[in-house]
Amino acid sequence: MVHEEKYTSDHPDFVYSSGNRILHWIRASVIIGLIVTGFYIADPFLTPEGSTDKLLYAEWTQWHLIIGFVLIASGLLRIYLFFFGKDKEGELRSMKDVLSVRSWITQLKSYFFIGELRKKGLYGPLQFITYTAIMILVVLASVTGLVLYVHVYHLGIGSWLYEPMRTVEYWMGGLANVRYIHHIVMWGYLIFIPIHIYLVIWSAIRFKHGAMDVMFTGYDYHLKHDTDEVEEDKK
Ligand code: HEM
Repeated sequence: MVHEEKYTSDHPDFVYSSGNRILHWIRASVIIGLIVTGFYIADPFLTPEGSTDKLLYAEWTQWHLIIGFVLIASGLLRIYLFFFGKDKEGELRSMKDVLSVRSWITQLKSYFFIGELRKKGLYGPLQFITYTAIMILVVLASVTGLVLYVHVYHLGIGSWLYEPMRTVEYWMGGLANVRYIHHIVMWGYLIFIPIHIYLVIWSAIRFKHGAMDVMFTGYDYHLKHDTDEVEEDKK
């Protein structure tokens, strides 16, 4: 097992601050909660046919909205931390790697088992683009969710957001389209989540990095010369 010897490394680097790790798990839980409650809202199968009792449906919607506002708040905070948080250096560095052909080749080769996975920033280029797309889905889910919200709640946040959200509704081609986009976003997550979990486990096994535990401990493992290379790069 030449491969294993090569990758076994005990060089822990602290890469994820607690803020980012906590926000990761908050968003993972609320997105699952939104998928479950959203599925029910789309098809309220528990209400007996012909029944006028809408309380159960209202309760699912209420939970969907409460969790939805947690997603909006944590999404905004995450965007802020990307630019101004403790991990900004590694995160912004990954943005640069997206434009580097060499970084793309390194990442793609490693996926085809013909090279090592070396990243200068926190994410490989393909990984960075995927996470950016997932963030765009959060924004889309939040904006379309708010358009649906202002049609039901007219006080407080509902009243402040009414006019801007009606404009967004117009841009999106009407309320039916907004609902459709909101629903399709859910499928974006349903496709992403299993691939994300698969790739995390795959890369933890293949590269012996801290791919699995990094989101709990904040530590990733690299070969010593890789760490030195990154340090060199910073100078
Ligand atoms: C990952 C995030 C989200 C997912 C997966 C999701 C999923 C869904 C789904 C599947 C529906 C049913 C659509 C249909 O009728 O076909 C729905 C409805 C709705 N969602 Fe979301 N949602 C998310 C985020 C949000 C957010 C952030 C808000 C705003 C706070 C929100 C507010 C609403 C509202 C108001 C409805 C309509 C409820 C009703 O018709 O009574 N959602 N959502």
